[in-house]
Amino acid sequence: MGLYTASITLCVFYLIHSGFATDLLVDLPYGTIKGREAISPRNTTFRAFQSVPYAAAPVGPLRFQAPEPPTNWTGVKDATQDTYTCFSVKKDSDRENEDCLLINIFTPILDNASKDQLPVMLWIYGGAFRTGSALYENFGPEFLIEKGVVVVTLNYRLGPFGFLATEDGLISGNAGLKDQAQAIDWVHNHISLFGGNPKRVVLFGQSAGGASVGYQLLYKKNEGKIHGAILQSGSPLSSFSYMGDVSARAYAFDLASQIDGSVDFKNDTGSLIAFLQNNVTGRQIDKASTLTTVTSRPLPVIEQNVKNAFLYNGSYEYLQAGDFLKIPIMIGATSEEAIYGTSDMDAFKSSFEKYEKKHEKFVPTKGFHLKEGISNKLVGEEIYNLYFTNVSAEERLGYFVRWKSDNNYIKPMIKHADLSTKFTDVYFYIFSYDGIMGNWNITVPGAGLVGHGEDDRYIWKVKSSSFDNGDLSKFPEADRITHERIITLWTNFAKYLNPTPAASDLLQNISWPKVESGNFQYLDIDTDLVIRKDPKSPYYATWSRIYDQYNKRPFTIF
Ligand SMILES: *[C@@H]1O[C@H](CO)[C@@H](O)[C@H](O)[C@H]1NC(C)=O
Ligand SMILES: *[C@@H]1O[C@H](CO)[C@@H](O)[C@H](O)[C@H]1NC(C)=O
Ligand SMILES: *[C@@H]1O[C@H](CO)[C@@H](O)[C@H](O)[C@H]1NC(C)=O
Ligand SMILES: *[C@@H]1O[C@H](CO)[C@@H](O)[C@H](O)[C@H]1NC(C)=O
Ligand SMILES: *[C@@H]1O[C@H](CO)[C@@H](O)[C@H](O)[C@H]1NC(C)=O
Ligand SMILES: *[C@@H]1O[C@H](CO)[C@@H](O)[C@H](O)[C@H]1NC(C)=O
Ligand SMILES: *[C@@H]1O[C@H](CO)[C@@H](O)[C@H](O)[C@H]1NC(C)=O
Ligand SMILES: *[C@@H]1O[C@H](CO)[C@@H](O)[C@H](O)[C@H]1NC(C)=O
Ligand SMILES: *[C@@H]1O[C@H](CO)[C@@H](O)[C@H](O)[C@H]1NC(C)=O
Repeated sequence: MGLYTASITLCVFYLIHSGFATDLLVDLPYGTIKGREAISPRNTTFRAFQSVPYAAAPVGPLRFQAPEPPTNWTGVKDATQDTYTCFSVKKDSDRENEDCLLINIFTPILDNASKDQLPVMLWIYGGAFRTGSALYENFGPEFLIEKGVVVVTLNYRLGPFGFLATEDGLISGNAGLKDQAQAIDWVHNHISLFGGNPKRVVLFGQSAGGASVGYQLLYKKNEGKIHGAILQSGSPLSSFSYMGDVSARAYAFDLASQIDGSVDFKNDTGSLIAFLQNNVTGRQIDKASTLTTVTSRPLPVIEQNVKNAFLYNGSYEYLQAGDFLKIPIMIGATSEEAIYGTSDMDAFKSSFEKYEKKHEKFVPTKGFHLKEGISNKLVGEEIYNLYFTNVSAEERLGYFVRWKSDNNYIKPMIKHADLSTKFTDVYFYIFSYDGIMGNWNITVPGAGLVGHGEDDRYIWKVKSSSFDNGDLSKFPEADRITHERIITLWTNFAKYLNPTPAASDLLQNISWPKVESGNFQYLDIDTDLVIRKDPKSPYYATWSRIYDQYNKRPFTIF
């Protein structure tokens, strides 16, 4: 580019931007923040406010406890870049810090007196409740912003910081879910300052984030603050989102003894708390979380002996009873969630050999308590036959992947939809488009193709050492079309609480039907968009029968 052209470009840039003011300062009740201006790949200008505190740093007596409101600050807080992330189990970085109850706001509305009230999409990241963060490089909001929505991404506590519980009410548990609820409340109260509509907030999340979205629907205090929800590949019914029979109390004491094995707490919660809140650093707890022997995955629990619990009952009970926020939901999974497990093919094969020798291993290990007179052997045999009868030698490993996907990821999603549809609008999808943008490139005969998390790559602008979708032109046309469809369906849902409010060429004129009792239709998002019936048939129906026939009530998860 010659000097002449460059100066013209600068001049045009200046003219455009002098036409109106971009307000980079926003006054919150807690103090003023300063954001930055940015431009999306398709030239939508937006404002970014990053790492804004929505709660006080959960340290000292607040460690492991429900969050408190932010402390006020004086002067202008810099919100032009990411600061801290919450501590992750087994993933260390200099950014990890307990002062991590931070939220990011991205808005295409540039002045803070605008009357515009755009729909708000509030994202909860996944990572098994023990890793993850809302860093901009992982969840760049540009593609969504370009469709005229405000995007918010929240951070919440993970591992022991978010999910330690002592089962006696002193540390009641679910602090990480309470963080999310506090962030939802923050959005409700303050998003209009950013041009967002507090009456149109749609929660979305994937994996543990999808499960979190589902948990927030069970929490009465969110009533009126969220208006739609998207659950991608995670539900409170998913086994990976519930502590189950593992003793949370034993985990808490084990964690402390991994820091100092010489202390005898004599099973006294008071001494345990005094030690964990006053005598140790966050880094020590983080280190201990990698050494614990009871479990390495502290998770949401049913809270006992507490007044302001987040969760009083098993998720299944709430959903079955219609005891949840009755707002429209979009919910689904990728076509073969567990395919990533075969990236270590040798380990996967040797695991399969063990299952072939011992069919009891196919029985769910969490939330499944056999009725009197029923044996694991019987149930294991039924599940084995369900997946492997008449399956050829070449495809058996692929069917093992299917069992894993269904058992761990997909059956809870279908059940969540099935239970919810009696009470609210439910749109179900299976994401089966296999493109480079999705980034798992594994084929196993007999199994589907699209693994856990591939959907995220079509939604977010991601930049890592191994992946960058900032320049969409580098991807095949079919990937770009699928990307555009997903972005359109998701933002349509945020705007209209209906993913296909009108016929559109991009969406191949489909009208995505709601799930109805006795008529389970869903959208298959493949190279084409196709309406189908009964996802994962005949497997899902058989799973339902197996639970009803052999599992003791009340169910907690599915
Ligand atoms: C709006 O922006 C102006 C200019 O940046 C700033 O002075 C003012 O404090 C902001 N007001 C609010 C309510 O955020
Ligand atoms: C924080 O500032 C607000 C005013 O914006 C005030 O009402 C509140 O009392 C302050 N909180 C504390 C703890 O000082
Ligand atoms: C964005 O703006 C740049 C600079 O003005 C221009 O070169 C580019 O073509 C624009 N991109 C789109 C998608 O409009
Ligand atoms: C430890 O304390 C808990 C809660 O007070 C109690 O339920 C449990 O029985 C105690 N365990 C032992 C071994 O004393
Ligand atoms: C915790 O710290 C206090 C004060 O330094 C000390 O008296 C106490 O022994 C410590 N407790 C443990 C269990 O290390
Ligand atoms: C939850 O459990 C309580 C008792 O702890 C019970 O009274 C209530 O009916 C249950 N709610 C649901 C939705 O099952
Ligand atoms: C398995 O194959 C046999 C022989 O073709 C057939 O009779 C049977 O119905 C098949 N079973 C299932 C479950 O498909
Ligand atoms: C996917 O894997 C196949 C077989 O290993 C390889 O030939 C192909 O280039 C890979 N595709 C991408 C997009 O990485
Ligand atoms: C959608 O419907 C319109 C009007 O009937 C038609 O012109 C168009 O070709 C259709 N598009 C697709 C992709 O089917």
